[in-house]
Amino acid sequence: LASIEVDISAIEPGQSISMLWRGKPVTIRNRTPEEIEAGKAVKLEDLKDPIARNANLPDAEAPATDENRAANGKENILVMVSVCTHLGCIPLGQQGDFGGWFCPCHGSHYDTAGRIRKGPAPQNLPVPVYSFLSDTKVRIG
Ligand code: FES
Repeated sequence: LASIEVDISAIEPGQSISMLWRGKPVTIRNRTPEEIEAGKAVKLEDLKDPIARNANLPDAEAPATDENRAANGKENILVMVSVCTHLGCIPLGQQGDFGGWFCPCHGSHYDTAGRIRKGPAPQNLPVPVYSFLSDTKVRIG
């Protein structure tokens, strides 16, 4: 399927759901206020990959601020392709040194905005094209 529609109404803060889109796992997380704050507190110069990697932004080189990683106008919602940018394993949620995702294959740590912070992965987890069809329905692709 080129695009899928996902009901996100049941995702409580601190929970995620995953689905397949074009053969890849996509994760939608409803971030807690603490996770959002942690993401916002990070300075750009501390990021290994300073580019947002968000396909929804008009500027492909947009900086990887927390705001540029999260959904437009919904800072709690994070949508990402959960394929490690090192060699393609699937990172585990809410693990690792930065409270985000941890890839057990070779030890890459991603933060609460899905940005690579430590380990061999070179890039942030990519944000696919998506849009809100309503407050609770997201179309990916
Ligand atoms: Fe994730 Fe190597 S594939 S760290």
